[in-house]
Amino acid sequence: MKTVLITGCSSGFGLETARHFLDRDWRVVATMRTPRAEVLPPSERLRVLALDVTQPESIRRALEAAGPIDVLVNNAGFGAGAPFERMPMASVRQLFETNTFGTMALTQAVLPQFRQRGAGVVVNVSSSITLKPVPLAAAYRASKAAVNAFTESVAAEVESFGVRMHLVLPGRAPDTRFGETVRSHTSGLDHPAYAGLVRQVYGAMDASGPITHPQDVAEAVWRAANDPASPLRLLAGADAEAWAAEAA
Ligand SMILES: NC(=O)c1ccc[n+]([C@@H]2O[C@H](COP(=O)([O-])OP(=O)(O)OC[C@H]3O[C@@H](n4cnc5c(N)ncnc54)[C@H](OP(=O)(O)O)[C@@H]3O)[C@@H](O)[C@H]2O)c1
Repeated sequence: MKTVLITGCSSGFGLETARHFLDRDWRVVATMRTPRAEVLPPSERLRVLALDVTQPESIRRALEAAGPIDVLVNNAGFGAGAPFERMPMASVRQLFETNTFGTMALTQAVLPQFRQRGAGVVVNVSSSITLKPVPLAAAYRASKAAVNAFTESVAAEVESFGVRMHLVLPGRAPDTRFGETVRSHTSGLDHPAYAGLVRQVYGAMDASGPITHPQDVAEAVWRAANDPASPLRLLAGADAEAWAAEAA
């Protein structure tokens, strides 16, 4: 029986992905900043562990408690909206600490066991926002574009050891808590110089159209974990597919 460790399982994509693997008889180590086992169905194959991806000691403790794993899913992350000139550098750093450096730190921590075993998969949840420029999201987009670049390079480093690296690129998913985190990490959106752009960008987000469902992400992660022939980049969601076609 295989084991997956997933970060950011308290809600959204991480929670749905944990359910997806549990339903398919995997052992699941569902990690959260504040462990709440009740968000997932009870199972002997489920362990819920505390993990804040920005804290090295928290990473060390969680991986030690988890024991050997077969698949790591770096999903924890949050968004922020701002005209870049108005975004405090402390907020930019906070985004990178979680979205980028958290992903890198977890990956670095599991690679030795994967290399020694000659098997293992890392799936990094990035975003379709990396496929084309989006105003008012420069720092968030950059934090995820760095994840793409890092994942692609490490993939080439570890492929010969039997270790696979994948990116899952979801589109916009209004059903998760992501929108809430974006709203609580905004700055400068009330600046008069950017009023037109704010209306345009946020108006387009409110409009109906294709979206991504958490299940789309869970299925893409499942495919990356289980199908050695799956591509390095997997799109998740109808809108992500449309964006990729536009960007091509
Ligand atoms: N929803 C979208 O439109 C969208 C689109 C593309 C990509 N994504 C990406 O998909 C991933 C999941 O987002 P989601 O939509 O499912 O949003 P979500 O419901 O807000 O889930 C984000 C998860 O990340 C966790 N998290 C945040 N900071 C953390 C930290 N320092 N350490 C550990 N966990 C942390 C949150 O935990 P807490 O409960 O502790 O805050 C939560 O469990 C993120 O990486 C996001 O950037 C989302």
